[in-house]
Amino acid sequence: MQAATHARQTAQGATAPGYDLRQIDCDPNFWYPVAWSAKVRPGKAFAARYAGQPIALIRPEHGPVYALEDRCAHRQVPLSKGVVDEAGCIKCCYHGWAFDRRGQCVTVPYLNREDVGRPVRGYPCRERGGLVFIFPGDPALAETVPLPDVAQVGNPEFKTRQFSPRLKCHYTFMHENLMDMNHQFLHRRQMGSITARFLGQDAGENFMEARYSFARKGGNQPLAEALIFGRHHDLEGREQPVEEVVSVRTTYPYQTLKIHDKDGDLVMDLWACYLPLGETQQVTQAFGLLSVKKPKWAFLLDMAWPVLGIFTHRIFEEDREIVEMEQKAWRELGGDHNIEVFPVVRKLRTLLATHGVPNPHATPQG
Ligand code: FES
Ligand SMILES: [Fe+2]
Repeated sequence: MQAATHARQTAQGATAPGYDLRQIDCDPNFWYPVAWSAKVRPGKAFAARYAGQPIALIRPEHGPVYALEDRCAHRQVPLSKGVVDEAGCIKCCYHGWAFDRRGQCVTVPYLNREDVGRPVRGYPCRERGGLVFIFPGDPALAETVPLPDVAQVGNPEFKTRQFSPRLKCHYTFMHENLMDMNHQFLHRRQMGSITARFLGQDAGENFMEARYSFARKGGNQPLAEALIFGRHHDLEGREQPVEEVVSVRTTYPYQTLKIHDKDGDLVMDLWACYLPLGETQQVTQAFGLLSVKKPKWAFLLDMAWPVLGIFTHRIFEEDREIVEMEQKAWRELGGDHNIEVFPVVRKLRTLLATHGVPNPHATPQG
C-alpha cells in the first residue's frame, strides 16, 4: 500500500520528459542577465557567474562591455582581478597577459611575442534596461535569439525598481511560486485576507500565462497596495471584489507579472529572470525590474517609494523562505515527491521541463 502511494506521488511530481524537474538545467541558448550595468564601471572588470561558469565582464573606458571566461589561459586565475588597459584589453593580474574582447591573447609581455598565448572563451554580450546580458550557449545562435523586453524601463510614465536577491533554490521553484497565486494565505500578515480567483490561461510553444483577480475577505488594504491600485471601497465587512487582473506569464526562460486596472490600463509590470549560479543550478540569482505606473501626482509615488520597497521586500522574504524550504526538502528526500493538483502548475512544469536540458547528473525516472 505504501509503495503504491509512493509510486502515485512520484508520478504526480514527475514532468515530461521523464526527469525530476529540479534536475533540469536552464537552456543556455537564451540571453541571461548576469549583472546590473551600473556595477560594471568604465575601465573596470566585474566577476559574474552562469551555472558554475565564471564570467569576467569588462567595460573599457570607451566602447561596449564584453564578456570572457573568467580564467586566464595561462594559470587560470580570474581575469576579473586584472586591469583594463588603454586599448580596452583585460590584462591578467599575475603575469600581465592581455586578452582582447574576442578572448584572443594579444600580448605576453615578457616574451614580447603575440602568438604564444592561448585564447579564452568569449561570450556574446549585450545591455538592455540597466542589465548586462550574456548568451552562454552556442554563440552562433546569439544573433537569432532576441533580447527580452524588460518591464517598463525607460517609459516616463512608470517608475522602476531593481532587485536582485540570491536564493538557495532551483530556478523552477521561483517560476512556480509566482505562477501559483493560490498561496496568498502565506502573505496574510502583509496583505490581509485575500483570495485569488483563477480567470483563465493561455499557452503557446514557449509560454504559458495564468490570469487571476483577487477578493479581500478581511483586514485592511495595505497602503502600498492602495498606491498601485487606488483605494478600494470599504464594503463594511462584505467581500470586496477587486477588478484588477493579474497576469503571470512564463515566456521561457523569463517571467512577468502584469496588473491591469478595471479600465484595462497597465498599472504594474514586473519582469524577472532566474539566473542559475551553481553547477547543479540549486542556487539562483533573481534579477527583477518592477515598474509602477505614476499617478496623476507623480510625487506621491516618489514619497511612497520607500514604503512600497519595504512592502514588496517583506512579501518577497516570505516567498524566499518557502522556496528555500522546498529545495531543502527536495535534497533531504532525494527528489520531488510532492502532490501537485493545480493544472496551471502542472502545465508550467511541463513547459520548463521540455525547454530545459537534463543536468549531466540527472537520472531518468522509471
Ligand atoms: S596567470 Fe594570467 S598571466 Fe599568468
Ligand atoms: Fe508569494
